[in-house]
Amino acid sequence: MQMCHFKLIINTLHIFLILHHMSLFFSSKKLNSNESLNLLGLQRLLEVSSELEEYTYESKMEVTPSTKTLVSACLNRIYECMYYDAARGEYLKAVEEFVTDKLKSPDLESKVRVTVALTSLLLGPLDVGNTILARDGMIEMILVMANSDDLLQQKVACECIIAGASKKDKVKTIIDQGVHILKKLYQSKDDSIRVRALVGLCKLGSSGGTDASIRPFAEGSTSKLAEACRKFLVSAKKDADIRRWAAEGLSYLTLDADVKEKLVEDKPAINALIELGKTGNRTCVYGVVTTLVNLVNAYDKKEAPAPELVRLAEFAKHHIPQEHELDDPDFVAKRVEVLGKAGVTTALVALSHTESAPCKELICRVFNALCNQEDLRGAVVAQGGAKALLPMALTTDPHENTENGRRHASQALARIGITIDPAVAYPGQRSAEVVRPLLNLLHLDYTALENFEALMALCNLAGLNETVRMRIVKEQGLQKIETYMYEDHVMLRRAATQVMTNLMLSPEF
Ligand SMILES: *[C@@H]1O[C@H](CO)[C@@H](O)[C@H](O)[C@H]1NC(C)=O
Ligand SMILES: *[C@@H]1O[C@H](CO)[C@@H](O)[C@H](O)[C@H]1NC(C)=O
Ligand SMILES: *[C@@H]1O[C@H](CO)[C@@H](O)[C@H](O)[C@H]1NC(C)=O
Repeated sequence: MQMCHFKLIINTLHIFLILHHMSLFFSSKKLNSNESLNLLGLQRLLEVSSELEEYTYESKMEVTPSTKTLVSACLNRIYECMYYDAARGEYLKAVEEFVTDKLKSPDLESKVRVTVALTSLLLGPLDVGNTILARDGMIEMILVMANSDDLLQQKVACECIIAGASKKDKVKTIIDQGVHILKKLYQSKDDSIRVRALVGLCKLGSSGGTDASIRPFAEGSTSKLAEACRKFLVSAKKDADIRRWAAEGLSYLTLDADVKEKLVEDKPAINALIELGKTGNRTCVYGVVTTLVNLVNAYDKKEAPAPELVRLAEFAKHHIPQEHELDDPDFVAKRVEVLGKAGVTTALVALSHTESAPCKELICRVFNALCNQEDLRGAVVAQGGAKALLPMALTTDPHENTENGRRHASQALARIGITIDPAVAYPGQRSAEVVRPLLNLLHLDYTALENFEALMALCNLAGLNETVRMRIVKEQGLQKIETYMYEDHVMLRRAATQVMTNLMLSPEF
């Protein structure tokens, strides 16, 4: 693997193709430690990541808005391929060398470039990014840049603060030393600075997560921040970049159920969010999809602790997370309904082309939440949802979708198959292809609801025609289905028996 050809690259398309090839290469092959240690190549990649559209030289590499996202994904994938501690150590060494080397030079541009590269690391191999961020003087350097009068420095520093504010200790440092700087930047005349400062404040302000009892800023500040994000989002004049930052700001604030309710009642804002998603633009995937997941509560909830443990914790003055009353199921269902009716599926379909597996999982989660509601399933199919879900449910490549993502996609497909005629929901080849994801849900570790929904969908499919019945047999479905005929739960027994009955239509069977 040669990674040293970057000097030759002069146009964006090449960078794009090379990054794509590198991603494919790293996903298809386990590296032994010798092959991976092309430190020079890694540093070249960091060099690409530190490239800015604002700097123009003869020898400059051309970059597009997508380059950074791709380089981050690539850096992350290489890091994931470092299977040994020693290899990860080498990776970190290469990065540190790059940073030290750049910072030796007294000029400002090097500092800006280090900050930009650090942002790429924080959005890619987060552990590496955090290690660099924890170096003495690093956060301070970034805050000095944010506090300067130079727009470019303010911009890159804000982006780095946003990316870096993920771990508790860093958040605390930034809150202690940086909040007043961000507040000052939010008064900037330049909208691109204002929106970034705003997102920084949103992320810091929501560092308590869904826990309604932790709010680092004063009472009411969250709704003020949300209102500010909304303004940026709906304002038609604002360019795509500003709107995508606004969506990212909302992705942090919508952990708060008050913000969720307010946003969902705000038609122009919801439409703007969906329109943004429909562009399918790489840069907006995270913000849009995370906001949607929050709105429909499709994240994993922690089990509520047992009451006696709560009392014990109260006694010991430990912190107890609190669930917000607006996160009750009926409120969530209403929010899902609003989004479904506003045509969110079209946005999800456009966004499902993302290269990021974690983002795909989020998309599958939202799809599954939509399909949980029977009356929305028809719209999901009509807007291309079933077609988009199928590849996400079928893939076994962890770089294509996560295991949880596959599970959510499969359950969404099952739910569709229960309500909608399979000939309509899965026309042509798809009626046979959907069999495997459904059979995958017949897993003893999965919930009885997942099992049941899969059996119901299989029952409808088995009634469709001989092609599908033979596919169920070929995918070793019989054994799995038969197991459920001996289940304790009567509904599962009944559903499994119904599938078997429909399979009886096959002479072969
Ligand atoms: C890696 O390189 C070292 C020295 O260059 C060599 O001794 C070792 O056998 C190589 N390891 C593999 C797995 O190729
Ligand atoms: C994607 O978004 C970026 C800004 O985030 C923008 O510059 C670019 O033009 C957008 N691309 C498309 C195809 O809309
Ligand atoms: C079974 O149904 C699917 C989807 O409607 C169709 O593509 C396939 O040709 C059908 N097979 C037979 C044998 O009719």
